[in-house]
Amino acid sequence: MTISVFGTGYVGLVTGVCFAEMGNDVICVDIDEKKINRLNAGISPIYEPGLDELIESNLKEKRIQFTTDSDKAIASSDILIIAVGTPSDVDGSADMRYVLQVAESIATTMDRYKIIVTKSTVPVGTGKKIKEIIEKHLNRRNTNFGFDIVSNPEFLREGCAIEDCLKPSRVVVGCESERAKEIMTRLYEPFLKNGNAHITMDIASAEMTKYAANAMLATKISLMNEFSRLCEKLGADIENVRRGIGSDFRIGPHFIFPGIGYGGSCFPKDVKALIKMGEQQDEKMEILQSVESANQLQRNNFLKNIIKKFPNGLKGERIAIWGVAFKPGTDDIREAPSLDIIAGLLKAEAEVIVFDPVASEAASAYFSNQKIKFVENQYDAIEGASALVVVTEWKSFKEPNFEKIKKLLKAPIIFDGRNLFNLKNMKELGFFYHSIGRPLV
Ligand SMILES: NC(=O)c1ccc[n+]([C@@H]2O[C@H](COP(=O)([O-])OP(=O)(O)OC[C@H]3O[C@@H](n4cnc5c(N)ncnc54)[C@H](O)[C@@H]3O)[C@@H](O)[C@H]2O)c1
Repeated sequence: MTISVFGTGYVGLVTGVCFAEMGNDVICVDIDEKKINRLNAGISPIYEPGLDELIESNLKEKRIQFTTDSDKAIASSDILIIAVGTPSDVDGSADMRYVLQVAESIATTMDRYKIIVTKSTVPVGTGKKIKEIIEKHLNRRNTNFGFDIVSNPEFLREGCAIEDCLKPSRVVVGCESERAKEIMTRLYEPFLKNGNAHITMDIASAEMTKYAANAMLATKISLMNEFSRLCEKLGADIENVRRGIGSDFRIGPHFIFPGIGYGGSCFPKDVKALIKMGEQQDEKMEILQSVESANQLQRNNFLKNIIKKFPNGLKGERIAIWGVAFKPGTDDIREAPSLDIIAGLLKAEAEVIVFDPVASEAASAYFSNQKIKFVENQYDAIEGASALVVVTEWKSFKEPNFEKIKKLLKAPIIFDGRNLFNLKNMKELGFFYHSIGRPLV
């Protein structure tokens, strides 16, 4: 099939590469010329395990092209996939400017039947809006090519995006015509050989499915975090509680790990957008409003506990941060808890030293002009530090050399936002160890 993907971010690039990997002819379009030049040189603009190899092999096999020329892409492809960003606007709603720009350029250029697929996370009603834009332009141009609008929300997880894309847990397709349904079924057939579900529905429900999925996951996280704060006060251990409730099949063991709150490019903005969608329909999203404030509270609480440990203030104290990415396996720092925690420490005049295996460049750009140092080895970060703060659960942090940590730190103090370490072990080693929702050691 001939496919063009608009937007070569975390979703568009991975999607384009995976469709090419299945033998399709793919054109990836972006307005960012620097990104496109790098991609044509075989350099991925993002860190995602397995992505570099797939870009290289598909470029070599000439199954994928990278361009800024959207007209050429529209003319050469039957399926046009919109995967541009939908960040939060100032009022919390999804900023639809990029999606609508792509829709406009498709509408003004298309010269035959096309399927226009929205993979970006978009408010319910966007498919309808894109349809109206295209109809309006086709009428103006006095032409009448048929076209179909499809909503095909993306569920990949950063850090394992290639695997998720090649073997999706399910594919959701919202469409109105048999023709679009058939083409989308054919497109995804090679990805669903394992029998996972291809779920078709109407466009509005597909658009809503994506928001509902993210809101449900964010809710699980915030609820567990709320329990964790109470556990700390009452002397219970949230990890025992987690095992206790996760074994109930109605609750399940996934996504109930306590921590310092969700971050990333999706949950925060999608929860906000859903609250806004409710507001526009005069339906108050009470639970989601709490989910959002509980998430912020969790970050603030963690920071407060660190500050409390230094009654004379943090001025001049060196604090080591392990991990700035919002989760392991990615260099994405959008809305990462680390950003609030580091900002709070800097505000308290602490000296901040950061190690992250892949996200330092992004964090350094974010904190440019601020007094913060990045190092290339996790142990270099803690040398002479007054405390170690674990923020992202990278694998290399899970079984570190504790004797070395103790020797390098000025005082054996660890704040662990991800509950990586064994309480008994930490006690025996003589650490002050503050984790999430577990007894203080
Ligand atoms: N990141 C994720 O894990 C994830 C998962 C599922 C769904 N989503 C959704 O997918 C969408 C994309 O997310 P992302 O993280 O890949 O975004 P991103 O910010 O990483 O990338 C968006 C890209 O679109 C490009 N762009 C903007 N306007 C364009 C235009 N007119 N033509 C071509 N390219 C244009 C930008 O230059 C950028 O490279 C969002 O709606 C997001 O909510 C993201």
